[in-house]
Amino acid sequence: MSKPVVLITGAGKRIGAEVSKELMEMGWYVLIHVNSSVDSAKEILADYTSKFGVDAPGDILQANLLIDSEVNDLISQVLQHSAVKDSGGISGLIHNASIYSSIDVEDVSIEDLQKNMKLHVETPFNLTLGLLDSLRSKNGCVIGMVDTSLGRAWKGLSHYTASKAGLRQLMINFAGDFHPDVRVNCIAPGAIISADWEVEHFAKIIEEIPLGRSGHPSNIAKAVLFLFNSPHISGQVINVDGGWSLNQ
Ligand SMILES: NC(=O)c1ccc[n+]([C@@H]2O[C@H](COP(=O)([O-])OP(=O)(O)OC[C@H]3O[C@@H](n4cnc5c(N)ncnc54)[C@H](OP(=O)(O)O)[C@@H]3O)[C@@H](O)[C@H]2O)c1
Repeated sequence: MSKPVVLITGAGKRIGAEVSKELMEMGWYVLIHVNSSVDSAKEILADYTSKFGVDAPGDILQANLLIDSEVNDLISQVLQHSAVKDSGGISGLIHNASIYSSIDVEDVSIEDLQKNMKLHVETPFNLTLGLLDSLRSKNGCVIGMVDTSLGRAWKGLSHYTASKAGLRQLMINFAGDFHPDVRVNCIAPGAIISADWEVEHFAKIIEEIPLGRSGHPSNIAKAVLFLFNSPHISGQVINVDGGWSLNQ
């Protein structure tokens, strides 16, 4: 019997890698999208292929999602993929690829803003539309990875938070646009893994988290599985943040 297929962007390492592993464990065929993390994606796939001792539980697709032609090629590769054809369409799409850097608001260039908007809004828009018929044929589920910045001002991150707000609203609107065939939701991770440049700040944030610890990427993977397995949930944003949003 063919497996349900999911495409997750930016999944060669960190949170996306953990989500890919959990989905493979649960019987999904995972199209692991990467930009530069080809080697680590290959390692994950090799580990899981030998673990199951059968055919590979996924494949790796490479694209720079800031380049339109590569986004279009990715859509074609997904639609032409044998696992997608065998399954009769794609059952899951996770917009996880992201860029995250701190820039003082007065130094944010139009290029910085456009890059964030492209990766976090325009590409998810194009990818979802490009795969929509395929998602519809499987009553698929789309998830946008956002953050907990809604209604807050995060210093040095205006370009990032504005674009994640765009993604959040795009997903909510899509939930209204594509029902009843396709469900669309968001996951808002709290402090899960710090970026290299924010280690000190991250440690301070942990002190404010009611559950008293940072999250683990597997916590995000569990939320993905929950949404994939919840046929009556659409148009929601789930905070996976240890209660951090209570204190912000
Ligand atoms: N980490 C946290 O604690 C946290 C907190 C709040 C929200 N989130 C959200 O959760 C998601 C996962 O977080 P993360 O920290 O694991 O993400 P991340 O490491 O910042 O980024 C994930 C992947 O995005 C890919 N990417 C970047 N630019 C790209 C481009 N031009 N084209 C294609 N792919 C590109 C990279 O792929 P390659 O490595 O292949 O180049 C990268 O591995 C993100 O959407 C993030 O905003 C995370």
